[in-house]
Amino acid sequence: MLIRKAVFPVGGMGTRFLPATKAIPKEMLPVVDKPLIQYAVDEAYAAGIRQMIFITGRHKRAIGDHFDAAFELEYELEKGNKTELLELVHAIKPDDMDCVFVRQARPLGLGHAVLCAESVVGDEPFAVLLADDLMLGRDQAEGGPTVLQQMVAAYETHPGTVLAVQDVPRSETRRYGVVDTHGVNASVAEVFAMVEKPTPEAAPSTLAVAGRYILTPAVFDSIRRQPRGAGGEIQLTDGIAALIGTEKVYAFRYDGKRYDCGSKEGFLEATIDLALANPELSAAVRAHMLKALG
Ligand code: UTP
Repeated sequence: MLIRKAVFPVGGMGTRFLPATKAIPKEMLPVVDKPLIQYAVDEAYAAGIRQMIFITGRHKRAIGDHFDAAFELEYELEKGNKTELLELVHAIKPDDMDCVFVRQARPLGLGHAVLCAESVVGDEPFAVLLADDLMLGRDQAEGGPTVLQQMVAAYETHPGTVLAVQDVPRSETRRYGVVDTHGVNASVAEVFAMVEKPTPEAAPSTLAVAGRYILTPAVFDSIRRQPRGAGGEIQLTDGIAALIGTEKVYAFRYDGKRYDCGSKEGFLEATIDLALANPELSAAVRAHMLKALG
């Protein structure tokens, strides 16, 4: 197994979702009936990863509790013979999954959050998943590969840093890290430059990095060497960009859909799409939407 560990930076402030995120992390917001963080952990598990490393911030408890056993709940469900619900609760953390929590004392940026995982990751390649990007592989619902599974397969043929990328409108480059592949449009393409949040005029392309990465351990030293980047934060993009030329960095066009659940629009789109895809809910949701739209 090549990629054994996944890092989930969940220490951000989530200001775009206040007041909901005052006391709980945005990664605990549910899309239909599952918190965002569980979608990401399930995705990593499906890719064969068994050690989940959470980089937590102020609201540590809710995520820790979610992946911990809940003795009273399980006792009540067992007593009431609610086998299906009991299985659903057990499936949150299968027995062979190991959860590690590391505290990011101050939200100094995504690069800093990744650096906090160094001692747990050690000297091996690892995945990083931003749970506020909810990613669905194109045929995932029918048993097809998740986005991280696709990336692990790409890593096997192209060992190095692998970044999930998608095309975005040029007017939106300011919201992303943007890569330069010298115009190569293949599903895996070498990256020659990478810029965090460029203006549309300065963006080297419209290929934007989504919240899934496979990184090599060299990224830790590289992040450490970077001065504070855009917004005064320690940027992951700068750390990866500085590796170009010494190690291979690849852009991987994933086959699937990304919902930016850190924004209200993206969160609502995910909720609507997943509710419509849910056999128990779709008829009622469809009927309600038709009524609401008059
Ligand atoms: P965002 O840029 O979305 O920031 O972080 P945020 O603070 O979470 O949300 P807003 O913009 O205030 O609404 C991108 C990802 O990096 C993590 C966040 O949890 C999110 O998954 N992050 C960011 C950290 O873990 N630590 C940080 O210091 C910064």
